[in-house]
Amino acid sequence: MRFVITAGPTREHIDPVRFLSNPSTGRMGFAVARAAVERGHEVVLVAGPVALKTPKGVARVDVTSAREMLSAVEGALADANCARATAVFVATAAVADWRPAETAGKKLKKRDMTGVLRLVRNPDILKTVKCERKIGFAAETDNVLAEAARKCREKGLAMVVANDVTEKGAGFGVATNRVTFFRRDGSAERLPLMSKLAVARRIVRFAETLA
Ligand code: C5P
Repeated sequence: MRFVITAGPTREHIDPVRFLSNPSTGRMGFAVARAAVERGHEVVLVAGPVALKTPKGVARVDVTSAREMLSAVEGALADANCARATAVFVATAAVADWRPAETAGKKLKKRDMTGVLRLVRNPDILKTVKCERKIGFAAETDNVLAEAARKCREKGLAMVVANDVTEKGAGFGVATNRVTFFRRDGSAERLPLMSKLAVARRIVRFAETLA
């Protein structure tokens, strides 16, 4: 199978030296990439700005903004279709939901800042891309399962990996995660606290059942 995976944050530039972003480190996506290679799959990892080493055997495409991430993913999925590979899209990236309406070409002067930053919505990569096997993430602070069910339906997913980021050991920047697999058929499987690599291996095994 060919796994196309997004990881890390995106950066949405205000000017060449300032941007909107979030604290995602990319660990979960890099773990999925590693786990997929271990199982002999072909992997394209589309990464936002992160400080992680590329796992062996992974083809990595570095991007900055959400729009660049979307076009890199579309390219990788189109290649998979050409090669008649069974494509799976796993979206772990913490994509910025908004971007500045305009990006200045030169550094803005402090005195020129008006105090108002006009924002526009970024594309939802997971919802937009056409792929029969999509796996998404839902990092929530409350109502975790209801939100997972909604995302599964609205984005046309085979599975949502849901986690409550207020729980200890789950969320941004840590090596562990505590997740619930919420599948298209309505089944929910709550996994114990485990390493992100162990979660990643379970995700890859699930993806293999979709082949
Ligand atoms: O709707 P929400 O942002 O909570 O959905 C999270 C899931 O959607 C994650 O899998 C994330 O990678 C993906 N996503 C995306 N593009 C966006 C926003 C979220 O691919 N613009």
